[in-house]
Amino acid sequence: MHVSPVLAAQTTYPFVRIEEAKRRKAAEGVRIFDFGMGDPREPTDPLIKRALVAALDEATGYPAAVGLPELRQAIAAWAERRFGVQLDPERELIPTYGSKEAIFLFAQVVLDSASGKDLVLLPEPAYPVYERGALFAGADVQTVPLLAEHGFLPDLEAIDDDTWARTALLWVCYPNNPTGAVAPAAFFERLAALAREHDFLVCSDEAYSELWFDEPPASALQVVDRTNAVVFNTLSKRSSMTGYRCGFVAASPAVVESLRKFRPSVGTAPQVFVQRAAVAAWRDEEHVERNRALYARKRALLLDLFARKGLALAGSAATMYLWVEAPDGESSEQFAERLLGRGVVVAPGSYFGPSGEGYVRFALVPTEAECAEATALLEEVL
Ligand SMILES: Cc1ncc(COP(=O)(O)O)c(C=O)c1O
Repeated sequence: MHVSPVLAAQTTYPFVRIEEAKRRKAAEGVRIFDFGMGDPREPTDPLIKRALVAALDEATGYPAAVGLPELRQAIAAWAERRFGVQLDPERELIPTYGSKEAIFLFAQVVLDSASGKDLVLLPEPAYPVYERGALFAGADVQTVPLLAEHGFLPDLEAIDDDTWARTALLWVCYPNNPTGAVAPAAFFERLAALAREHDFLVCSDEAYSELWFDEPPASALQVVDRTNAVVFNTLSKRSSMTGYRCGFVAASPAVVESLRKFRPSVGTAPQVFVQRAAVAAWRDEEHVERNRALYARKRALLLDLFARKGLALAGSAATMYLWVEAPDGESSEQFAERLLGRGVVVAPGSYFGPSGEGYVRFALVPTEAECAEATALLEEVL
């Protein structure tokens, strides 16, 4: 059998490896505390579930790729409240099936290698989907390291003009997975200026924009001229709705027009009842505030423990992640392996890229009670 050479060249998706290791440990009878994958285990708010149930009676055929007008309007209203920006729900927004597929597919929509724009620039450590999507689209890929000494921001000034000339897309993600770092508004302005100068798109993955602790993070939507910005967001983390699959892309009318043309071939619109639930979710902030407060409590438990044990934290200003330095003399994998030995699952930083070596990522997804139990256990392990 023949398979795509791009597929054949890929290593196992990192979280599949973590799941396998976790299952082996559980089979030995060890109680598992899973801080591995960023999949919130808190129940979705009843207000959202009720909206879904109420929509089940509606007759639904194939959902249209452009999504329900009410959903696009609810997203535009949210973006205005949250970021103070005005989006045209008709021409600048399209709903997506979560944001993963939209991120994966995006290079296929806009890459035009024949014009010399054949490069996708992406950060590392990072969510693996930017790279995989770019490779399947036939792009050349170049990574830019995210380092502690640079606040886990890419060093934009270190990228030379020849590289910019070939760049079709640059991926950024703030608040960042996996480091938890945030980007100042000035970073997005600098990116917007570079994108105009060198004619590329800034793809801003803002999946974690609502999981913050001190002040609400900036968005690429807020730049003075957002012509080259393509923003991906989702209800998965904001509203603990990973299982529902509902997000959006906000971009210039030209980009949204291309997505409207592309997406019906893929068939990735959320079910209509999910879109109705999404309308309820984007309209409500109270459940998001409760979510944030819950993450803040879990975070405080672990931060206390790390401080007592002398474990250094890097980044970690926002998101559901804590980016923790492995103790001296231990690699990311060795530290993760040692924790797994006692049932505590974390993601080795090296799984997200070479610059992740030396760190592990804790996703604050176990319940608050489980986090308290895990803290007591880690008290002995660390
Ligand atoms: C950085 C980042 N972007 C996007 C996603 C995609 O989430 P979803 O497809 O559930 O919207 C994730 C999921 O973990 C993520 O970590």
